This record gives sequence, C-alpha cells and structure tokens, in this order.
Amino acid sequence: MRHPIPARSGVPKAGALAKSLLPQIIGHRGAAGNAPENTLASLRKAKELGCSWVEFVVRLTADGHPVLLHDDRLKRTTYRRGKASELSLAEIRPCDAGAWFDVAFTGERVPTLEEAIMLVSELGFGANIELKAERGRETVTGMVVADVLVRRWRSARSELLISSFQQEALAAARVRAPQISRGILFRTIPKAWRSIAERLDCATINADHRRLNPILVSEVQGAGYPLLAYTVNDPARARTLFDWGVTSVFSDVPRSLFCAAAGGRSRQPVVTNLDSTSVPRQRSVS
Ligand code: G3P
Ligand code: MG
Repeated sequence: MRHPIPARSGVPKAGALAKSLLPQIIGHRGAAGNAPENTLASLRKAKELGCSWVEFVVRLTADGHPVLLHDDRLKRTTYRRGKASELSLAEIRPCDAGAWFDVAFTGERVPTLEEAIMLVSELGFGANIELKAERGRETVTGMVVADVLVRRWRSARSELLISSFQQEALAAARVRAPQISRGILFRTIPKAWRSIAERLDCATINADHRRLNPILVSEVQGAGYPLLAYTVNDPARARTLFDWGVTSVFSDVPRSLFCAAAGGRSRQPVVTNLDSTSVPRQRSVS
C-alpha cells in the first residue's frame, strides 16, 4: 500500500499533493549501502534494487551551486581536504566521489542538483530532497534549491518532497515554491512538533527511528501526518515500525527491507528481479 501525502491546509494547488504516493521503502542517499551515497551511481543502484523513491542531500558550494553532498567537509566521501561551502563548483567537480566506497565506482563525480533531477526523471523516481545548510546560509539554500526545482523538475510535483532539520531553509523554500511539499526533519520529535509543522505547512514528519515509540507514532499519524523514519536497515525493525504505523522508512539497503514491507500483509509488492550478485555493503553511514 502506498500512502497519499495529505493536502494540508494552506498549500496551494493541493490537488497535486493529494495524488502523491509515498512508498514504504525509500532509498537513503540513493542506496548508500550498495553504492557511494549521493552520487548518480547510487540513484541508479536504488532503481536497480526496486525503489520508487529516493532521498538525497543537497547543499551549496561557495559560489552557490546546489550539489549532492552529505557533509560540508569533502574528506569522507572524496578524500579531498576542504569544505564544500568554501570551494567553488569548479573546484569540487574534479573530486572523485566513488573511489572511497569501492574502486569499482572510481570516477563518480559530486553531482549537481540539475544532474540528479534529470536522472530522477529518467528513472521515474519520486524524490525527497534534504536541504543541509551551513549556519547563516539556511535561507539562501532553501531559496536556491526551490528555484532550481521550479525551473528543472519535470516529473509529477506530487512526487517531490523537500525536507530539512533546518526550519529556516524550509521556510525559505516555502516562500519560493509553496507548491512543493515540505517535511520537517527531527532527531527527537519535540513536544511542539505540531506547531512547528503547522507553521511551515509541512506535509510530513521525518524522524530518527531510534527515538520513536508507538504512542508518538500514533500521535503523529492521528494528526494526519505521514511519518517517515530514518535510517532503517534491519528488516525486523522496519516491520515493527510499520506495525506501529510508520508510513515509510529510509534505508541504505532497500533490497533487504522489501520483505519487511510486505510483512505478510502485502503492503508493497516484493521486488523479484533483484541483482543477486550485488551484496549490500553495510558501510558506516553517519
Ligand atoms: O532524510 C533522512 C535522513 O537522511 C536524515 O539524516 O544525516 O542521514 O541526512 P542524514
Ligand atoms: Mg539525509
């Protein structure tokens, strides 16, 4: 079963949102357990593994280009010293974003948001684009990413969700593109979660699965918000979360989780044409 993103009050052109469908399993950073996170290879891998939606992270380079990178520091995923927020796109482009994960991915680049959008469209994905901004750049990050999405996103708008831990970034995205659904990200869902979600007119609540409990899940679901939990790589845990009422989980190893999603209840078709030669890698994904 797939879940509609509810059309919340105040969201213009809500009809587009009402048609949106959230799958139970969303590829995290593409498919970060099977390919280098936040690269085009990772998006392709997520498709190969049967995902219909992917999550990836976008942040700005020093010269204001949105690129797919989780950390501001480049070192973990490219071996290069320095910070994305202090380097230009031209300086970041030559970096190898694949070799750190596996030599087979040598030559992968740090993708621009435009490149990712084109591939997402070609692969027919829905996307949860997470905004990460350096302190002081929250508003510009939300504005720039929203502007690019308005210009370049060609797939159904109902299959696009912008999320962030940073409320200012979401607020800026809302100003520039109120028609794009927003999800507020929490590590721990705070007591005031509902007023935060209402103020930003969010369509979803996205939270760390380790800090969820059945009461909290039912409170969020009862208020009409789909709850999306990150990062779930254990099928048994995914089954528990779905039993509590969690709508979707982000997973680095989506293939391992499809059986949990089906869970004997046929909530989502089990993908059968999986690449059995590709063993999921449990790289540390911070
Ligand atoms: O969007 C869900 C999850 O990815 C948030 O945490 O640090 O993995 O981007 P992080
Ligand atoms: Mg993320």
